[in-house]
Amino acid sequence: MKGLILSGGKGTRLQPLTYTSAKQLIPVANRPVLFRVLDTLVAAGITDIGIVTGDTATEIRAAVGDGARWNATITYIPQPAPLGLAHAVKISQDYLKDERFIMFLGDNVIQGGLAPLLREFATSDYNAQIVLTRVAEPQHYGVAELKDGRIVRLIEKPQTPPSNLALVGIYMFDSHIFEAVNAIQPSHRGELEITDAIQYLIEKGYHVHPYIHEGWWIDTGKPGDMIEANSKVLEELEPVVEGYVDRNSRLEGKVTIEKGAEIVNSRVRGPAIIGEDTRIINAYIGPFTSIYHHCLIESSEIEHSIILEYSQIVDIPQRIEDSLIGRHVTLMRSPIKPKAYKLTLGDHSQVGIL
Ligand code: TTP
Repeated sequence: MKGLILSGGKGTRLQPLTYTSAKQLIPVANRPVLFRVLDTLVAAGITDIGIVTGDTATEIRAAVGDGARWNATITYIPQPAPLGLAHAVKISQDYLKDERFIMFLGDNVIQGGLAPLLREFATSDYNAQIVLTRVAEPQHYGVAELKDGRIVRLIEKPQTPPSNLALVGIYMFDSHIFEAVNAIQPSHRGELEITDAIQYLIEKGYHVHPYIHEGWWIDTGKPGDMIEANSKVLEELEPVVEGYVDRNSRLEGKVTIEKGAEIVNSRVRGPAIIGEDTRIINAYIGPFTSIYHHCLIESSEIEHSIILEYSQIVDIPQRIEDSLIGRHVTLMRSPIKPKAYKLTLGDHSQVGIL
């Protein structure tokens, strides 16, 4: 069975970070989401993997390479424009050929492995297997209606949901999906929708089987989701201390300190992770926080946040919470008069000032 990871798209909901970088490469618990997707597929025995790329193809290729780090073989499939998930399948037909495959959205994080559901699909005669999960507010998701153990209908954001089973970004198909993606028309938003393609399979009488995922699943499309995924993964991370922690510092709970990191006169309360060569000086790092590599946090307090590489946060008098801060960001008190906020912010930045 082959794997297909979707890593194109526009990533508008994660601007401004996605102006300069692929959203699939934003780390949760200091490992890019796309790497976690690759880890999950390879752990389930899928090593022949296609990655659909868009505008950020160069960056994705540079980060993942030929897949040797995963003992996998990667084929890159450029998508000329983000015309929908079903369009991504359509342009991957030459790569996928007649093989059954699993499709995984490159910005999704799930708890647990995929081995049981892949085994079920591989040994079945289902034409498609769709992963579903129970959600509290199904009206915000694509929802499946089930009957006699099959999916009989998919509805996008239903006002009266027929179930609380939402589609997760994981799908398994046999080659009949190509008949579907070639038959459907673009939706009102101009995209070839995967839900329309699956609905086509259902209407043609193909067997579309549900698989209910019991663990958590997060689509990291928005900053809040990214921070939530980070929290969930941090809770499950086994702590390792490879960096330097001085005698005046205290680590509490599950705290990982990566190689070359230095914790000086500070308190880090887990679950938290401090990246390679990052320095934490006279600071407090609270639960559910990931600080990536080569950062400096000095005389400041941060909690429930993600800070990306090469950023510096120095002398900030109020605690920073629920924040997603990009690469090479500097946040510090300004010594220069007149006393004022001095900001250099990208488009779509959001700042909450006290
Ligand atoms: P989405 O999050 O649905 O779309 P997006 O990435 O364009 O983001 P936004 O809505 O914020 O603008 O995409 C889910 C995943 O699928 C994501 O990893 C990007 C990928 N994708 C493609 O590879 N090709 C596509 O045509 C689309 C729409 C998404």
